[in-house]
Amino acid sequence: MMKHRTLLATALLVAAASLQPLMADHDSGRTIGLTCFGCHGADGVSLGAVPSMKGMSEEHVRTAMTDFKSGKRSGTIMNRIAKGYTDDQIKALAKFVAGL
Ligand code: HEC
Repeated sequence: MMKHRTLLATALLVAAASLQPLMADHDSGRTIGLTCFGCHGADGVSLGAVPSMKGMSEEHVRTAMTDFKSGKRSGTIMNRIAKGYTDDQIKALAKFVAGL
């Protein structure tokens, strides 16, 4: 029984590890980008006070996120959100948003 569990756990780990490269590039931008829609509106089109993401250039998103992350630009919530992402993830995210 123990042995089977160990085998299963190992198989799952191997499967998860082999998915990593697939997630690495534009997929990670999309995966992260989908989490932004809750506030920035479905497909980045906001109906409320939060600015729409759709229509922002790659450059704008990258600069805004980098500045929120460093504290150069202050916001109510975006500083905390931006701190959660690496520079590479921000780059992928900016590409995804620009493609909306
Ligand atoms: C909890 C709600 C919330 C989430 C989730 C969220 N945002 Fe924001 N976003 C805001 C608010 C509110 C602002 C206005 C600035 C502030 O108050 O922090 C903003 C501002 C921005 C701006 C600046 C827009 C401009 O006019 O320059 C960008 C870019 C941005 N968000 C990108 C993102 C990205 C990318 C994500 C996903 C990783 C995201 N946001 C997730 C609420 C959110």
